Amino acid sequence: MIDRIKRSFASARVCPHGGKFREVESNSVGPTPLDFSANINPLGSPPLEFVVLQELERIGYYPDNRYVEFRQAAARFVYVSPGNIVPGNGSSELIRLFAEMTLGDGGLALIPQPTFGEYENQSLLAGGRVRRIDIGPDGMPRFSDSDLDEAKAAFICNPNNPTGVLLPYEEIASLAERCEDSETFLLVDEAFIELSDPDQSVAGLAPKAEYLFVMRSLTKSFGVPGLRLGFGVANPVVAEIMDRARIPWSLGSIAAAAGSYLLGEGEDFLKRSRTVIKEELEYLISALKSLGLRPLESTVNFILVDVASSGLASDDLASRMMAEGVLIRDCQSFGLGRSYIRLAVRNRNENEQLISALERALKCRG
Ligand SMILES: Cc1ncc(COP(=O)(O)O)c(C=O)c1O
Repeated sequence: MIDRIKRSFASARVCPHGGKFREVESNSVGPTPLDFSANINPLGSPPLEFVVLQELERIGYYPDNRYVEFRQAAARFVYVSPGNIVPGNGSSELIRLFAEMTLGDGGLALIPQPTFGEYENQSLLAGGRVRRIDIGPDGMPRFSDSDLDEAKAAFICNPNNPTGVLLPYEEIASLAERCEDSETFLLVDEAFIELSDPDQSVAGLAPKAEYLFVMRSLTKSFGVPGLRLGFGVANPVVAEIMDRARIPWSLGSIAAAAGSYLLGEGEDFLKRSRTVIKEELEYLISALKSLGLRPLESTVNFILVDVASSGLASDDLASRMMAEGVLIRDCQSFGLGRSYIRLAVRNRNENEQLISALERALKCRG
């Protein structure tokens, strides 16, 4: 039977992710775990109850698959036109759509390493082949001209998960220009840019470019991973093609209404979030150094930490932290060996709990 299934599907793999709070919560009897493995806005989400309740009254109807209001709100948010917007059931749906649109039949995808695992996962699922691209010490992936000429698609995450490096606008714009020359579709994933420095976004370039697709997620910035909300920005032709190819009604009506509200009213909330993140990054980086660990510089709401000096492997440390009731991200699946963990930035009280738990976990070195 398996041989009757498309090969790329039959060999589909599970892409590891953080954020296993619900799984852990449902399997444990102890106190609620503290989740530092998913990088969600430390302020949580703005109040959404009234939007949800309002939409519940119309839950007996299909959503309007044109998502007019959501598109308008997203367009205003990134200063483009509604015709440039592709709504997505989380940005994950858009990664899949982009891979399906550009790859297949062994088409080459260029993917920096380390970065978010779904680019590779979805590229393979679409039937593409993947070339991993090293990232230089400046944080810029080393895409060669011949790589770009050969490839059908390239991916870049800015700021990058898991390294926390934010590349300046000029660097991404220049990569986008090279991709225009080589006719390679470029996906720029800006899922975290609102929690870093949105001025570095290249979303404004997408409407005029042929090969640029810029992606935003509401998950991290507005603290709503359960809603599943994202959008892409592209020129009107590509945006319309992707929109037609999208699964119909892929955004639930509650999510779409919440998304319109958040994008319309959320600017102050995001500003406050960036201030808190900056303060908490400073606190955490200094506290982690005091524990003898090596946190990498970060500009966003998570930190990649080299734990080699502790003498513990990342997975052992993750297990010890789990016993402390704290979830952290073991970074082995990013191809970083057993020396790195990733920690989300949460509020001060929670960050202090993290540091105390780490101190205990590192002490009992057995
Ligand atoms: C860099 C990056 N992009 C995209 C996503 C997908 O997010 P969502 O589908 O919730 O928008 C994630 C999730 O962890 C991520 O880390």
